[in-house]
Amino acid sequence: MKFPENSNSDIPMTNTKKKIVLLPGDGIGPEIMRAAVRVLKECAKEFGLEFEFAEFPFGGCAIDATGEPLPGETLAACRAADAILLGAVGGPKWDAVPLAKRPESGLLALRKTLQLYINLRPIDLRAPLYGLSPLKADRASGVHIDFVRELAGDIYFGEHRVGPDPSGERATDEAVYTTGEVERVAKYAFARAESRKGRLVSIDKSNVLTTSQLWRRTVTRMGADHPHVKLEHLYVDNAAMQLVLAPAQFDVILTSNMFGDILTDLGAALAGSIGLIPSMSCGPGPSVYEPIHGSAPTLAGKDVANPVGMILSAAMMLRESFGLKREAESIESAVDRIFASGIRTPDTVEPGTSKVGCVEFADRLCAEMASAARNR
Ligand code: IPM
Ligand code: MG
Repeated sequence: MKFPENSNSDIPMTNTKKKIVLLPGDGIGPEIMRAAVRVLKECAKEFGLEFEFAEFPFGGCAIDATGEPLPGETLAACRAADAILLGAVGGPKWDAVPLAKRPESGLLALRKTLQLYINLRPIDLRAPLYGLSPLKADRASGVHIDFVRELAGDIYFGEHRVGPDPSGERATDEAVYTTGEVERVAKYAFARAESRKGRLVSIDKSNVLTTSQLWRRTVTRMGADHPHVKLEHLYVDNAAMQLVLAPAQFDVILTSNMFGDILTDLGAALAGSIGLIPSMSCGPGPSVYEPIHGSAPTLAGKDVANPVGMILSAAMMLRESFGLKREAESIESAVDRIFASGIRTPDTVEPGTSKVGCVEFADRLCAEMASAARNR
């Protein structure tokens, strides 16, 4: 499907019809995507916005349909979009496929091709859900961490090889960073810290890795140009411990691709469920918004998935790509009110709350947004 040529650079961005590419993907991806689109349509109705949605195959379902996890038509649509919403990819069905042909390789190719080198993952512990956090109550309050994960380099994109001997008993994954790659993501992290509490913690393993030494040297040098940001460095092992012991000390965290992947799952656990955390991936072109969780194949088709990570990703899209701050907040605050009222998805249920499925959660959220709009 193609978008009509309706862009006009003279019209302010917030007034034009936004072209949103949907990549639902595999497992629970299609279910949570339907919930997010419902919420966006509700938001459009209430604020008089216009969105144009176009869905494309991506990941395992695209392998099944076309033989490729990122078909050319999907990539072309992504390049032409104003923003991209992505569900999740992968599943046991494609486990036997070689690494380079797996659904995940489509995700990595999308990140690399669109040069999505910044990945913002906000770990916000939401007050109504403190009881779900594995942290003691006094440690759970006031945790709002913005993880800035580098997304287009590191061991993810170095050479992966088996051999050279044909036995298959030796494997190598190469980790590479250049100064320029560190600078461009660090620039964003410094700016993010400046717009928040002015604290930036950069995470590395510079006592062991040369890429980390380059990372620390580069970030330290840039720190001199940001006098309003209090910069600290932590080794990744210590950072993992600090995140559990005293997470409220953190404001913005800057990490490499691999460390960021691991630590943001830890962060999601602190928030109470990995189903809650959204993300934005951006670079010079259109940004991709996706929850940080996987495709959860065992939950697919049962209406038990938590759509909140996907819905909050859509809210991030409104704010970050379209400048629609009020509209994003209307979604985020409605999510908090729904949680506070005791409506819970199966992964967030607690004694005294009511369990609802993915579809009903979206229904309740839309009803809450409509009622807030009437009272505005
Ligand atoms: C994530 C995921 C991906 C990653 C996988 C699916 C390739 O875990 O977005 O965190 O490792 O980056
Ligand atoms: Mg991950």
